[in-house]
Order: sequence, then C-alpha cells, then structure tokens
Amino acid sequence: MAIPYTQKVLNHFMHPHNVGKIKNADAQATEGSPACGDMVKVYLKVDSDTKVITDIKFESYGCASNIATGSIITDLAKNKSIEEAKAISWKTANDELGGLPPVKVHCAVLAVDALRTAIENYEHQHGLLKHKIPTSEEIVMKRLSRVINPLAGLDVVKTKLVQKCNIQNGCATIYLELPEDHQFAGNIKNEIIERIEPLWDIHKVIVIFRGD
Ligand code: FES
Repeated sequence: MAIPYTQKVLNHFMHPHNVGKIKNADAQATEGSPACGDMVKVYLKVDSDTKVITDIKFESYGCASNIATGSIITDLAKNKSIEEAKAISWKTANDELGGLPPVKVHCAVLAVDALRTAIENYEHQHGLLKHKIPTSEEIVMKRLSRVINPLAGLDVVKTKLVQKCNIQNGCATIYLELPEDHQFAGNIKNEIIERIEPLWDIHKVIVIFRGD
C-alpha cells in the first residue's frame, strides 16, 4: 500500500532545500549509518559573535520523510541563533510538513537529531558549554551507542563491537572487536572518530582493531 504523504512532504522531497556539503563547516554531525543507508548529515556555519546560523546544509541517504524533514528543518534553522535552532523538534517539522505518516516519524527524528548533535558539537568546540563535564568512558560509550554496526543493524555498543574505551590526558582510545581488514572497518572507524573528536576536552581519538 502506498504511504500517504502530504503534498508539502512530496514538494520538499522532490525539490529539497539546502542540500549539499559546507566546506570548512564550523560543525557537523551524522546520524544513522552511511553503511546501512538511513543516514543524514548536517553542516553548520555559525557567526562567532552573534551565534546565528548563517548557513546550513544537509546530505541524506534516507527515505522521502527523512529528506523532506532535512529540507524543512534546515530552512527553519537558517538565520536563527543556535539557541533558537535547538528548539526545532520533529514535531515542529511534522507540523510544518502537514503531518508525516506515523510509521515515518523516526526518519524525522533522525534528521532533527543530526541538527541537534551538530549544534552540540559546535558548543563543545567553541567553549559554549554551560557545564564542562570532563569526558568519561560513560560519555564516550553513550555517544558510540549511536554508531550503527552494519553487520547487525544495531549499535556498536549493544552488539559488543566496542566493549571498552580508555580516556587519558585528552586522548580517547576505543577498542574495536573487528579485524582491521574487515569490509566495514574503515567506515566504522571514521564514524567513531567523528562522534568522539568534537568533545571539548578530547584532542585525539585512537581506534584499536582486534589483533592490533
Ligand atoms: Fe529510514 Fe526513513 S530514513 S525509513
């Protein structure tokens, strides 16, 4: 049975706004998994004085709802302060789009999460955190629980691909239960680095493969 999309969803899906990359972005974030296909990436340019988002772009490999949501939330976030942009939720997107089919809500959540994580990464990297909590192993594992293990379709922590990490003097070492020559090794390594590197007190991320 065809999924009932509103005309506005279809318009944003077929002619999405703000698609692409920003070179030298001030912050970026990926949610979902490039290896699995359901993935959205958000790039931000932020005025360092006013903290206004002067440019925002997204890339999506998700479905029509994901692309339509990426389009509408980037429209909404442009020229807003990062504080205002943080208030954009999947419900905002849903209302603006005239409603998404309930089965597709997670696709909108994925896009909104990417926007929020990009803003959070910006705050980490530009000294804007209200509470500078030192990065702990727990914080790292929590961030890693959003990296998907393409072999299982679940995250790398739940599937025990990452069982431990170590934080010392700003260096995060992640132990990956995968041989370096595995087909997804490079992909997962990049995703891990992208997740952990923005943390305010981390200046180096090392990924150790099984057998290293
Ligand atoms: Fe996966 Fe929509 S992004 S079904």
